[in-house]
Amino acid sequence: MNVHESDKIAALLTSHGLTRTDDHETADILIFNTCTVRNTAEEKIISHIGLAHSQKRGGRRVTIAVVGCLSQREGVATSLMKKFPRLDIILGTHNIGRIATAVDNATAGKKTLDIITEREDFTVPVTDTVRTDNTDLVTHKPGTDTHFINITYGCENYCTYCIVPYVRGKLISRPMSEIESEFAEYKTGTVYLLGQNVNSYKCPETNTDFVGLLRHLSRDTNVMLNFLSSHPRDFTNELAAEIASNPRIDKNIHLPIQSGSTRILKLMNRGYTADDFRAKIANLRALCVDVKLTTDIICGFPSETDDDFAETMQLVRDIKFNAAFIFPYSRRSGTPADKMPDQIPQKIKKERTTKLIELQRQIANAKIQP
Ligand code: 5AD
Ligand code: SF4
Repeated sequence: MNVHESDKIAALLTSHGLTRTDDHETADILIFNTCTVRNTAEEKIISHIGLAHSQKRGGRRVTIAVVGCLSQREGVATSLMKKFPRLDIILGTHNIGRIATAVDNATAGKKTLDIITEREDFTVPVTDTVRTDNTDLVTHKPGTDTHFINITYGCENYCTYCIVPYVRGKLISRPMSEIESEFAEYKTGTVYLLGQNVNSYKCPETNTDFVGLLRHLSRDTNVMLNFLSSHPRDFTNELAAEIASNPRIDKNIHLPIQSGSTRILKLMNRGYTADDFRAKIANLRALCVDVKLTTDIICGFPSETDDDFAETMQLVRDIKFNAAFIFPYSRRSGTPADKMPDQIPQKIKKERTTKLIELQRQIANAKIQP
């Protein structure tokens, strides 16, 4: 999602006459597209902003912008402006479409602090030219055949550990007609359909659901389809059957489990049990023998016992994911889990994370060398 958003920002500014560069030493504008899902991501980006802010550059004026989830977090934008007085632009998750105007303002010596709480609607049709009024853009990147299309924005699942619903707002599905026009721009490679929970897609015009959208897009194309991320609760048998039978759907499926303990999954508000997850995977593998699975796992959620953790280890042993993104639980202020009793000490969270990563590494290696 962030990579795609950075590409959209680049597309907007390119159409505004600027040139993209990854060389931050010589750039005239530095844009930090931030993440706030875990504290470490937040700390890292703040230290980078601080570094950019303190650099002298021989008196050359550089515009500094902070956009994305961190700036959207309550109170953060104003405190960043205070901490870094030479910041020119702060935009929230809903209005990166205003980046070009904000850059013009910065050039004229005017600061922009623009955080809106709900995203405006997306009623403007896709045209051949890059749109500047909102950010549903086709982003052709030279040298890559991987493309991204947002099908939903926001999330209303409220997993108790997660900050996303608070910084990205309520779930909005884009009309299928818009997604279709954007999709038609891509003739080769793989298109990733993006959303926090793609399975909850529902076209506001036709009521088409996610499986319907996949079927529709894959009818007459050479492009492969993939999607990020699915939610196990909403991963239906119908979707599994579609993945298995549709030759245009990529068989690399990302399905975040988060924990192997049903007790912890309940506290996380995930809406499925460990056995539900096992059953869904068994069903998918029975239908689609060549499916490759990846997942996300959080270690040390509040009150997680050694037994809960042992259940996660066992599930990982049993399922044998091709890869897993494993992180220690990070407290996010404003989320229900942050206020839960029995927070796990940092040391234990780290130990469990290391242990699980090592187990997953062995499993992945064994898969490569059968
Ligand atoms: N702590 C640790 N990991 C988290 N994730 C989301 N919120 C947190 C948190 N507070 C992870 C989840 C999700 C992935 C994108 O980030 O595993 O699937
Ligand atoms: Fe966060 Fe849960 Fe929504 Fe994913 S589904 S973005 S983990 S609240």
